[in-house]
Amino acid sequence: MFYENYIEKNKAWIDETFEKLDKKLARVAVKSRDKIPYTTVDGVHNDQSQDNKIFGWTNGFWGGLMWIMYEQTGNEEYKKTALRSEELMDKAFYDVQRFHHDVGFMWHILSGANYRLTGDTAARNRNLLAAMTLASRYKENGGYIRAWNGTWFGRNNDGWTIIDCMMNIPQLFWASKELGDDRFAQIAMAHADMAMRDHVREDGSMNHIVVHDVETGEMIESLGGQGYGVGSTWSRGEAWGLYGFVLAYMHTGEERYLDTAKKIAHYFIANVADNDYLPLVDFRAPEEPVLYDSTAGVIAACGLIDIAKNVPEHEQKLYISAAIKILKATEEKFCNWEENEDSILQMGTEMYTKGIHMPIIYGDYFFAEAISKLKGSEFNPWLK
Ligand code: GLY
Repeated sequence: MFYENYIEKNKAWIDETFEKLDKKLARVAVKSRDKIPYTTVDGVHNDQSQDNKIFGWTNGFWGGLMWIMYEQTGNEEYKKTALRSEELMDKAFYDVQRFHHDVGFMWHILSGANYRLTGDTAARNRNLLAAMTLASRYKENGGYIRAWNGTWFGRNNDGWTIIDCMMNIPQLFWASKELGDDRFAQIAMAHADMAMRDHVREDGSMNHIVVHDVETGEMIESLGGQGYGVGSTWSRGEAWGLYGFVLAYMHTGEERYLDTAKKIAHYFIANVADNDYLPLVDFRAPEEPVLYDSTAGVIAACGLIDIAKNVPEHEQKLYISAAIKILKATEEKFCNWEENEDSILQMGTEMYTKGIHMPIIYGDYFFAEAISKLKGSEFNPWLK
């Protein structure tokens, strides 16, 4: 009851914010129908659907956002754009060697959502194909899913894992259920257990990148990745872990994943509470320069809402109140509702050293997902 009462108290703000989302997105859905946006240039969505850009890890978010809005409103224009996005993404299947661990991000919330909302079997097939390539990246020695292909800043990245991959494994849980074959879920759980051991630090902060010995699977070192440096806390990595572990709990019922999500949440909340509920790019970096990442806040808010729904009533307040404070602060400071700008969430940041304070498509996606959860939607695109 606490959760429901708390939502009721905030209902006017939730409804008003959803109306703003719908008003803006209903127009942009038609305008950007033939694009796969990543950001905006002079207020206009760019397009990732051409050439090698089709393999970009963020390409599922636009269509995924359209499915969230369709599920909430029933507006067919959203569905048309989501379907078009999936069609554009088909080009990627002609060169699967280029696939990487982010095929979960790319297809689970796009084709997976399509299948779950419409029953389309071609969409199911796309998501299964993506899940099979994800499973094929599993390294037995170490029990983890390899991250990228090739090199990162000149270093061979065989044996590397990144915390972000916690958001890819929901696709594997889904595939196990669809096929009645628990191999996929076993890989997902092995990876989650590795992440608990090697990525999550004692205090709830996180290693972004972990390098493993390719023979023994032992952790050799952690790298700074997209945060400030080695030993720092990249806030979006923190958010990926927070939401990823609560999703792993929701898929498996294993308490250790919920406990881990809570531990990460406590660290995240303590850090944003000190900063008007707006996340900096890194929680463990010098005071200057002041760099924000609005996307970390909205991803974490989705996870916090789901934690609140999965803990006993007397524990709910910490998580749901933090989620709503983050979303309200984000809406007030970082959302652009003007017609001359295709994106909504501003002040996203790719990494500490690059792509600072810009709109990024997953910011809009997770903001809409969070508001739709608060509206009472039972459709979680990351679940089965
Ligand atoms: N998964 C990469 C990022 O969050 O930037």
